[in-house]
Amino acid sequence: MSEENRRYALAERPEGLINDDTFTLETGPVPEIGEGEALVRVKWISIDPTNRTWIGEEPTYLPPVQIGETMRALGLGEVVASNNDNFPVGALVNGLTGWTDYTVISDANPLMVVPDSAKSAPPATLLGMLGMTGCTAYFGMLEIGEPKEGETVVVSAAAGAVGTVAGQLAKLKGARVVGIAGGPEKCAWIVDELGFDAAVDYKADDWRQQLKDATPDGIDVDFENVGGEIMEAVFARLNIGARVALCGLISGYNDDTRPVDPRVFARLLIHRVKLQGFIILDYYARFGEAIAQLSGWVAEGRLKSEQTVVEGFENLPNALNMLFKGENKGKLVVKIAD
Ligand SMILES: NC(=O)c1ccc[n+]([C@@H]2O[C@H](COP(=O)([O-])OP(=O)(O)OC[C@H]3O[C@@H](n4cnc5c(N)ncnc54)[C@H](OP(=O)(O)O)[C@@H]3O)[C@@H](O)[C@H]2O)c1
Repeated sequence: MSEENRRYALAERPEGLINDDTFTLETGPVPEIGEGEALVRVKWISIDPTNRTWIGEEPTYLPPVQIGETMRALGLGEVVASNNDNFPVGALVNGLTGWTDYTVISDANPLMVVPDSAKSAPPATLLGMLGMTGCTAYFGMLEIGEPKEGETVVVSAAAGAVGTVAGQLAKLKGARVVGIAGGPEKCAWIVDELGFDAAVDYKADDWRQQLKDATPDGIDVDFENVGGEIMEAVFARLNIGARVALCGLISGYNDDTRPVDPRVFARLLIHRVKLQGFIILDYYARFGEAIAQLSGWVAEGRLKSEQTVVEGFENLPNALNMLFKGENKGKLVVKIAD
């Protein structure tokens, strides 16, 4: 193959937002495949807040990306050469591709083959609503949050990939849903387009009062995506028997200093709150179940999926920063090839 392969390698661990020195763009030959291997042309890359945690010093639920390694990321691609019947040429595959044009897979290092029934969905949907993102909202909201009819559910980062789905799922269960998002445009959008009952603009000076006004009966479920001051204000309004699905703490991902515990932590004890952190990889064996249910609700028009698409391989580093500046609505993906 005459084409070249580009990859972004981690050059240094950033402090704060990633910058021009964080990655190096390297170009080399397209990898050759051996026995039992297949070559994937990566076409779409999922941009996730956790990408930032993977390039820090500290291990998370996965080891840190090492200096010189290709940046780890989820993506979607097509098998273009194969010595493995499990990955035939033309198959669409989804999983950890990394920030690279081409990657080599095998039975020991597989990607999931997208079933024919799902192949017609837009790529951003396969990485979003019908991928890891939708599954995170599904298991976090329905199995940990367990919203019931009439309860008040709060979702932070509500206009983002996971938050948009989590809020809509709570609405499907008959709850009153309040989303927390940055800016009047996003707040109006989650109410008018996604059917949230109310929104709190955490960038407004009076956001604490907005939260009180939007949750007059307290809060029964917190789908927590943000942490920090926003989480603390939500915790302070948790009702007896409330549940917290601790999904993410994005407000701290660019900050190496460890946040102190919420000052209202005693409320969790006094109000017998159940808080459960979760990592979606633990539910991998049940993705099929979630995706079948989510696709059904999408087909019935009961769930809407939104995406922000950035074009071009060279825009990958900047796309990651977009998440921390609130420059995405719904799922953020980068298209790197047709
Ligand atoms: N536990 C798991 O397995 C799992 C899986 C997937 C995702 N997650 C977590 O879920 C959360 C959402 O992920 P996502 O993929 O859906 O990303 P996303 O919500 O699409 O994008 C991040 C959004 O977070 C908001 N944000 C960024 N910095 C913030 C800050 N300092 N304070 C308040 N809001 C801030 C921004 O929206 P605004 O414009 O509203 O500020 C931004 O659009 C993240 O914490 C992520 O780590 C966890």
